[in-house]
Amino acid sequence: MTFDPRTVSVSEMLTLVDKAFGIDRVMKDWGRDVVPEYYAQSGPAYERMHSTQGCMHYALNSDGVFSYEGYLVQPRAVLAEVAALKGSRVLELGCGKGFNSLFCAQHIHDVQFTGTDLLPAHVEKARVFAADAGRDNVVYEQASYEPLPDRFRGYDVAFGFETLCYAKDTDLVAASIAAALRPGGRFVMFDMQAMGDVDALPSDLARATRLYGISLAMTNGFLPAGQWEKSLEKAGLVVDPVEDVTKNLLPGLYHQVEMSHRTLSDWKKRIAIKALPPYMTRNAIAALFGPAVCRLGRDTEDGILVYQKITATKPR
Ligand SMILES: C[S@@+](CC[C@H](N)C(=O)[O-])C[C@H]1O[C@@H](n2cnc3c(N)ncnc32)[C@H](O)[C@@H]1O
Repeated sequence: MTFDPRTVSVSEMLTLVDKAFGIDRVMKDWGRDVVPEYYAQSGPAYERMHSTQGCMHYALNSDGVFSYEGYLVQPRAVLAEVAALKGSRVLELGCGKGFNSLFCAQHIHDVQFTGTDLLPAHVEKARVFAADAGRDNVVYEQASYEPLPDRFRGYDVAFGFETLCYAKDTDLVAASIAAALRPGGRFVMFDMQAMGDVDALPSDLARATRLYGISLAMTNGFLPAGQWEKSLEKAGLVVDPVEDVTKNLLPGLYHQVEMSHRTLSDWKKRIAIKALPPYMTRNAIAALFGPAVCRLGRDTEDGILVYQKITATKPR
């Protein structure tokens, strides 16, 4: 029989997580910058379990069935922007292993894509994937968006998927995004934000929400929904109505939760976990709590995390 995560309470999940990882031990990372360690340890697991092509974002499957096509929704949104503008230069922030820029570069050969990421290992891997694909209209450079260096200027489109959640100063980042765009240029982001206060949730759900974030290296919690819109407007961009696409995450989240529940329910696997790199194995925590912590329109005990598409224009 197929596993149904709705039959397991958040409290039971917390018990499993505590047995496997020790909740207090995981919570010690609250407030620490663990991004480099998290990706160094999780990288191989992402490629094995999530996407061999180096995709590191959630799938959006609007038809209710998990499939690889879901990973392409975000980069296809970029293709649509580029086509509408007839743009020729595109910048990606926090590109990871380059999946989105490479996908776009493979579709429109006369557009130049530049992917940037904080971590040199990601940039190197992105270059390998691009070389393997034989594309010369995509380059990758090491750069943090916090803030984006001055050399990035004059782009038709700038975008960042599931990376801007790590921003510490959204005003600073938004100002550097605005500076990187040419007048009339477009900005696109997809990311998770908090629609409400985690402290106002029932205590188990609040704990699960914090653990979900920490296990994805978001050790300062989630940015409040609305903050990016304010920062982008302050930077002079005109923000479109925001799209909430949280429900389209569900097939992907259910896909992961079953695997995680099976692993964490098995005492032998829990022992094995203790010998493996912690930031890699803790992805099982995010996988387990995913459906519980997202706002999916349930009547009771609904989560507060929403997955949004935010777009904006730099006025001419
Ligand atoms: C969840 S991954 C998403 C990668 C990619 N956007 C994708 O869709 O596959 C988040 C990425 O953000 C990068 N990142 C985190 N902080 C950053 C910063 N300040 N500047 C640039 N990249 C950053 C990480 O190194 C990682 O590659």
